[in-house]
Amino acid sequence: MKHLFRRKSITQLISESENNDHGLHRVLSGSNLVALGIGAIIGAGIFVLSGQAAAQYAGPAIVLSFILSGIACALAGLCYAEFASMIPIAGSAYTYSYATMGEFIAWIIGWDLILEYLFAASTVAVGWSGYVVSFLNDFGIHIPVEFIAASGSHLVNVPGEGWKVITASLLSHLTETGLDVNTLPHVTALFNLPAVLVVFAATVLLVVGIKKSANFNAFMVIIKVFVIIAFIAFGFFFIQLDNWSPFIPPNTGKFGEYGFSGIFRGAAVIFFAYIGFDAVSTAAQEARNPRKDMPVGILGSLGISTILYILVALVLTGVVSYKLLNVPDPIAVAVNAMGPKMFWLRPIIKVAAIAGLSSVILVLLMGQPRIFFSMSRDGLLPKVFSKAHPRFKTPYISSIVTGLVAMIVSGATPIDILGELVSIGTLFAFCIVCAGVIILRYKHPEYPRGFKTPGLPYLPVLGIIICFVQMAALPLDTWIRLIVWMAFGFLIYFMYGRKHSKLA
Ligand code: ALA
Repeated sequence: MKHLFRRKSITQLISESENNDHGLHRVLSGSNLVALGIGAIIGAGIFVLSGQAAAQYAGPAIVLSFILSGIACALAGLCYAEFASMIPIAGSAYTYSYATMGEFIAWIIGWDLILEYLFAASTVAVGWSGYVVSFLNDFGIHIPVEFIAASGSHLVNVPGEGWKVITASLLSHLTETGLDVNTLPHVTALFNLPAVLVVFAATVLLVVGIKKSANFNAFMVIIKVFVIIAFIAFGFFFIQLDNWSPFIPPNTGKFGEYGFSGIFRGAAVIFFAYIGFDAVSTAAQEARNPRKDMPVGILGSLGISTILYILVALVLTGVVSYKLLNVPDPIAVAVNAMGPKMFWLRPIIKVAAIAGLSSVILVLLMGQPRIFFSMSRDGLLPKVFSKAHPRFKTPYISSIVTGLVAMIVSGATPIDILGELVSIGTLFAFCIVCAGVIILRYKHPEYPRGFKTPGLPYLPVLGIIICFVQMAALPLDTWIRLIVWMAFGFLIYFMYGRKHSKLA
């Protein structure tokens, strides 16, 4: 039992973060870190999920859902910023819990973070594939339909809309339009080729260098942010106030369908849009000046993304009725609603979405191997995971392993169920980080912190409560999947980590 709660001392962690024998390169500046954060944050959440959440749950009040979810992330972000400025180690939440709650919880969080990074990257790769297939179609290039969806998924050719994966909502849409799915052409997919290719490309980039990856990310971030600002600026002139009325559509009688409960449900769905700001903290051992720049990277990227999200949500629901937004490309639909004069913006929006999703995949795939790297240095994973490449100075073995698994997950698994699993896993990590900040502040107030979370203990406690409420709002199935995943983790810890831990 005692083993489960053994902790790494803060002094040891601080000295580990200061000595540079880990083999990684300290090359990232503050602005690189902000760009990494924005790179990981702005993606499928805004380009894909925002419209569906507005149409199904919150209506124009999706703006309030974005604010609510943004507050929960800001509270967790403050705690991450304190930890990352104090113990700037690549392991992020895993390392913070090793110092505060002991080895077992640390392992659990490390295992849990796979859900956030590896699985989220795979989920977004599937979204990326959707956008690329549609972009290529616009230019008359058609990828064979067997290669555009997860292995075993059934696709159907919907007249006027093209090939779509058969889902419950597609079936009800077809029924509404009077089409019989059995009479339409069918195909069973082999695997999602574009998703596999994008993960492969990101993995290669991550292996050859963190600086190259950061530069590529910065380029993608400039494209997506520029286009989002253009959408907000042009869209502003096409807002019709009628579309905002009523701003909070009346509840239909069911929990989560509009009204106040719809705002909460919308917030839980839209939480995915904020995931990723904490990936900044996994680059702590590659930051030039982590004590100062970690908080800037985490809070700066979160702040900028939150403001953009709120403005996009206002314009989106102002330009087009929320009822028309239950589509995979809501921003393109809003541009359509602006009239023929604005059609030139449509392909640009697709390019921005592709750039945006690319950077999300890249940064999330950057975070995962760095957590494995720290876990391996602590002995909880085999040593190869902490091998840095002699020339590229990157954790190349763990990057390749992460890439391979992500390729399988994104190419072969029907991952519509994974989105919620990613959210519950991330929320769990946020709760632990908020709790960790409180514990450490009381136990070790003396250690220098580059940044201090204000309002302790109230704000972190509020963070825990809001994150937990969002977890509780997720379906039972998602909880069961989380528990099964954790049970797997327990097994591995008891079979390997407990004996091999450096603290053993
Ligand atoms: N926040 C990231 C996205 O929305 C994961 O794609």
